[in-house]
Amino acid sequence: MIGTDIQKAADFLQSDALVAIPTETVYGLAGNAYSSRAVASIFDVKKRPSFDPLIIHTNHFSRLEEFVSDIPEKVYLLAQQLMPGPLTLLLPKKKRVPDIVTAGSPRVAIRIPNHPMALQLLSKLDFPLAAPSANPFGYISPTTAQHVNDQLGNQIPYILDGGPCHIGLESTIIGFEEGAPIIYRKGGTPVEQIESIIGPVHVRPHSSSNPQAPGMLKSHYAPSAGLELGNINELIEQHSGKKIGLIRFRNHHDMVPISQQVVLSTVGSLHEAAQRLFAGMRQLDQMKLDIILAELVPEEGLGRAINDRLRRAAAKG
Ligand code: TXA
Ligand code: MG
Repeated sequence: MIGTDIQKAADFLQSDALVAIPTETVYGLAGNAYSSRAVASIFDVKKRPSFDPLIIHTNHFSRLEEFVSDIPEKVYLLAQQLMPGPLTLLLPKKKRVPDIVTAGSPRVAIRIPNHPMALQLLSKLDFPLAAPSANPFGYISPTTAQHVNDQLGNQIPYILDGGPCHIGLESTIIGFEEGAPIIYRKGGTPVEQIESIIGPVHVRPHSSSNPQAPGMLKSHYAPSAGLELGNINELIEQHSGKKIGLIRFRNHHDMVPISQQVVLSTVGSLHEAAQRLFAGMRQLDQMKLDIILAELVPEEGLGRAINDRLRRAAAKG
């Protein structure tokens, strides 16, 4: 059931049931992070491999001490300006965070979502929420309550509807190795913004061979129709005769029917493009196309995360 009753969502969560929750990035599939039973059912519903750990969500920075043991100075600087927001911190975990949440890792991922309903819900609970994106493993993340309902609606009792996600891409994940900041997943907080606060950070390229590395498996966010990236004119020529879908940054292309095209932002805004990307991929994926062709957006700001998701959607295996 889809609804806007925060108390009802809290009641379900208190009894170890799962609830899909809105955040500013994407919808999450939430359960009590301190309950191994609730967390196990998250893996179950998502069909997520148990080696892929979950982010825990809380409503206030002061609650971090409940879960983590060592907070580097740079984290305070980031938190001051960027939290709540689309930023996830990887920090050494305390014992009370069950190992199933972190897939056995000594570090736990934590974030404070910047969504009024999520924050209200969290403030009613005396436990944090473990929540991966509310999609079946490997598929595109949901940015509306309806997206969640389409795929997981019959497996969870409640979907809290907070409207379309304002950011539209998952959070940026940052951790520290020997004190040095490392970005493991590009996301809703641009790298440039982080660097303006704490100085240079290393962005570790994702790897398909090491699923333990956050940001993770190379092929992800994948529509069922294949997706190819490159120069649109050349790709259209290569695939002539096929039913083609297009994802473009600013303009429609005159060789493909308009109804088979998603234009991310006619005004060239990367923020708007990020908001529309996943919904656009889903829309095309429902059209029984032979192939989806896409072009990269400028590699700056949110564009770096948009391009990362496009590359993963295009990756095979
Ligand atoms: O914006 C977001 O981050 C959304 C919303 C719902 O908060 N959540 C999200 O969760 O994208 P998920 O599970 O789809 O992606 C989180 C990624 C995982 O792929 C995982 O590899 C990494 O974060 N991660 C989580 N905990 C980790 C840990 N302890 N160590 C390494 N990587 C971790
Ligand atoms: Mg996900």
